Amino acid sequence: MKVVKEVSVMQEISDYHRSTGRKIAFVPTMGYLHEGHASLMFSAKETGGIVVASIFVNPTQFGKGEDFDKYPRDFRRDAHICEKAGVDYIFHPEASEMYSNRPLTSVTVKEISDKLEGKFRPGHFTGVATVVAKLINIVKPHTMHMGSKDAQQNAVLKKMISDLNFDTKLVICQTVREENGLAMSSRNTYLTAEQRENAGSLYRILNEGMRQITEEKATDAEAVKARAADLLKELSPGIELQYYEITDNELLEPIPDPGSFKGEILISLAAKCGTTRLIDNIIFENNPKG
Ligand code: PAF
Repeated sequence: MKVVKEVSVMQEISDYHRSTGRKIAFVPTMGYLHEGHASLMFSAKETGGIVVASIFVNPTQFGKGEDFDKYPRDFRRDAHICEKAGVDYIFHPEASEMYSNRPLTSVTVKEISDKLEGKFRPGHFTGVATVVAKLINIVKPHTMHMGSKDAQQNAVLKKMISDLNFDTKLVICQTVREENGLAMSSRNTYLTAEQRENAGSLYRILNEGMRQITEEKATDAEAVKARAADLLKELSPGIELQYYEITDNELLEPIPDPGSFKGEILISLAAKCGTTRLIDNIIFENNPKG
């Protein structure tokens, strides 16, 4: 496994592998890797191509007062996880290498970026879309493997790839969870043992929403949301729900009558557990044909 720090060297390596007919599978990350990332690397490995993982804590997707400075970093541990998962190259640039020439260009996926997380983190998805567009131009992957936990990020990137005709296929892999249902995240490291235990309730309320829609055919999204909020208060009163929304999984439009909606439904939430902000979601096909 090689560690590459320069943009031009990564581009040459990717050009070389492409010229020999190899496929390139890419896992973009901000490091502090966990089992969820490893599962993305295994998915990349399954393509049979060269596997590239990037480790870069991207400053432009953090807002003022967010956790950029304290975001956990441990490159040696990350490199070990990558090696075990069969990664061929880690792309690990400095911020000065990625943003060397006073950039004046950014990528904004309108509308989708302003909803849900976008209301709480203005500018976040422009930072994400811009850095991922750059990473795609640097790594030149055939496939890019990302976790389903970041559903809105996936919707934004899917639209960017389609609108800008990137020749990269987005492969979305299932969220990996702790035993109590808590979605794995690098930010879970901020939680105390008690908070970590309580945070398992978030997955419970997502499942409860899905149950009401698929089994009870709930016709009023507001009632489903209210029931979820009540249940969370009952199970884990210390957790503060910031949003719990029922939308389609493409443009993230609200679905007022979910019981009769046909297609993929996304229930997504954000919650504060102490000072830590967590996101999670559940995605399911509602009223499938046949
Ligand atoms: O999901 C992440 O870790 C980041 O948002 C990404 C896609 C690596 C861009 O910095």
